[in-house]
Amino acid sequence: MGKKTTVGIAILGHGTVGSEVLRLMGEYSEDLTHRIGGELEIKGVAVSDLDKHKDSPAAHLMTTDAMSLINREDVDIVVEVIGGIDYPRQLVLAALKAGKSVVTANKALVAAHAAELAEAADEANVDLYYEAAVAAAIPVIGPLRRSLAGDRVKSVMGIVNGTTNFILDAMDSTGASYDDMLAEATRLGYAEADPTADVEGYDAASKAAILATLAFHTRVTADDVYREGISKITAADINAAKNAGHTIKLLAICERVGDTVSARVHPTLIPRDHPLASVNKSFNAIFVEAEAAGRLMFYGNGAGGAPTASAVLGDLVGAARNKVHGGRAPGESTYANLKIADFGDVSTRYHVDMDVHDQLGVLARIAEQFSNAGISLRTVRQEEKGENARLIVVTHHAYERDLAGVVEKLKSMDEVKSVNSVIRLESE
Ligand code: HSE
Repeated sequence: MGKKTTVGIAILGHGTVGSEVLRLMGEYSEDLTHRIGGELEIKGVAVSDLDKHKDSPAAHLMTTDAMSLINREDVDIVVEVIGGIDYPRQLVLAALKAGKSVVTANKALVAAHAAELAEAADEANVDLYYEAAVAAAIPVIGPLRRSLAGDRVKSVMGIVNGTTNFILDAMDSTGASYDDMLAEATRLGYAEADPTADVEGYDAASKAAILATLAFHTRVTADDVYREGISKITAADINAAKNAGHTIKLLAICERVGDTVSARVHPTLIPRDHPLASVNKSFNAIFVEAEAAGRLMFYGNGAGGAPTASAVLGDLVGAARNKVHGGRAPGESTYANLKIADFGDVSTRYHVDMDVHDQLGVLARIAEQFSNAGISLRTVRQEEKGENARLIVVTHHAYERDLAGVVEKLKSMDEVKSVNSVIRLESE
């Protein structure tokens, strides 16, 4: 390997990201050649429908036969920007097995099949890069794989989904409902026609799995990540959060808990002066805390054609340099092999909102349920609500298992008309 002067590139996909990758490769070509020490040459672009792209400036490079393109002798690096899991998995595995380095922006693929892909890359002694898979332009995979390789990461916590951050931020600033702000996000092009992956937290859970794997040198898949989306967050939740000096964000939280790793994605209350509270619109931000480095924060554009293409090109330069000069980038390592924490053992604080009968002794009986479970209360706020009262209880740290038990008991009490929401709360 090494000593090449031109590096052959196959691009799989020509959507929002693929077309930007091509455009920027053209625009920055001279700079890229200097930075690589060799020239990038696009050998082909695989698409599913040639007609759809017949007016593209890259039409002459297009093919529907992705597998043949990958296997061409003169292709050294394959860039996968198709999306989905099964079909790109076949292509990426074929590319790695054929000795091509791979750059992918596909978080769902990496989160579901990282072990298999990493093994194939190791066997073929090629690179597998995926900076764009988490928070697009924000460099966070590189820092975890390289810059923090000498440190011990304690936690990674952040806003890794722009669609949900846009919706929650819009609900917070307008007081409007979730449905109205989802419609607004769709109208403005932030939310997709089927928003499930974003609003139900699947996209964030894939990113959490990737971050946790790298941070803790332990295999974490999307299935290991506890996940709750934002679709049940109401204007009343947002308003209650505001009244208590908080805002609600969908956070991905990956932590070492003793000798285990926990990864979770859920709506989270944070104080309005928390640095993540000021991350608005569709921006992303990720906090990393490491033993020696202390706290680091990464902020920027977590989606979009050009920001995602920026991360893809950064990886492409790295992979191409290695093709020209030899060597391999640091891959992931999973040597620590920590256990995935039982979700019941995760501890945080909770904001429990319920409607209760406004009668003598009700508050005491509710408080008793918490104290019986060993959960200490931090604040209790009561508001008039017709014949009933709305009670908002904020706990000190408690285990998920204990809190879940209390919520079940509360729901069965005659005094409690409804438990409206249980939202976790993190402070700095
Ligand atoms: N759909 C994601 C988001 C971007 O809304 O942030 C791609 O991961």
